[in-house]
Amino acid sequence: MTAPRTIDSSFTTTFEYDYAAAEPDLRRLYENAKRDQWNASRDIPWATAQTSDGRVLADELIDIYGSPLWEKLSEQDRVFLNRRIASWRLSVLMYGEQGAMLACSQMVDIVSGTDQKFFQATQVMDEARHNEVLDRYIAERLDGVTYPMPVNERDLFDSILSESRWYLKTIALQLVAETFAVSLFRMMAEASRDPVLGEVCRRVLGDEARHMGFGMLSLPDVLKNASEQERREMEDYTVFSLEKTLLGFFPLEAYQDLGLSPAQIDEVKAYRRQTAASNDYAPFRKYFKRDMHGSMVQNLARIGLLTERVRPRLERLGINLPQV
Ligand SMILES: [Fe+2]
Ligand SMILES: [Fe+2]
Repeated sequence: MTAPRTIDSSFTTTFEYDYAAAEPDLRRLYENAKRDQWNASRDIPWATAQTSDGRVLADELIDIYGSPLWEKLSEQDRVFLNRRIASWRLSVLMYGEQGAMLACSQMVDIVSGTDQKFFQATQVMDEARHNEVLDRYIAERLDGVTYPMPVNERDLFDSILSESRWYLKTIALQLVAETFAVSLFRMMAEASRDPVLGEVCRRVLGDEARHMGFGMLSLPDVLKNASEQERREMEDYTVFSLEKTLLGFFPLEAYQDLGLSPAQIDEVKAYRRQTAASNDYAPFRKYFKRDMHGSMVQNLARIGLLTERVRPRLERLGINLPQV
């Protein structure tokens, strides 16, 4: 067990006295959140039998699927890797749920406006449930195998949780990190072999759409009223969040557990880079690009957070500025 992590934070809490609905769109999100609550203990078919071969995902979602290295693996090793890659990705997502729960609980305090506070309160509950459901999935379906929180993910959440301004938390969490999580959940929902995993992902996805909705509804006003310096700070924080989210997302420990040598792991990385650059065949990349460009990048650009000034840093991440 890893010891709990402590992060210093300080922020100003706003106590509201007016509870009337002031922002109809946000109030609607809050109503939807109440309507769509679900229970991870009751609504997931936990008793469903596991797949006969032990796979939880389609092999196509493994980076090295189809590579010379893959062709040399025994059936037993392929199943092992399938389960470990799933453990690795679900561990990353699970820590993200914990981080999201903590960030939203801070935002309940920080944001002004009853509609904003009520909505954030629902997101705290949603993220607790996501944390719970992923932990239970790993415990019951993946032999309890978890992997440590990647350094970039930890850096991102340390930054989000020590930041005192809600709109920077929202940019990093509700727009960048959650859109990334959504593309992973969607990919796993579509390519799950274990029906329980498919159901977990679909349930989580239903909640995530609301969370991104909060960012899209609340940020445009902030940007409109921001000074030049504040705008730059928001742009830079967007790029920082993208870098922390997109880089370093490589399940190194899963490959190490399979027994691959450092040279073989270099081969995995090279194969991964090569398929990502050469075509859209690699399903991981294909889903990912579609979602990244279809939602995250478009949304960030629409709000005005991706500008010419940050273009070079975005291009290093493989992101091209869309026309809006
Ligand atoms: Fe979540
Ligand atoms: Fe979320």
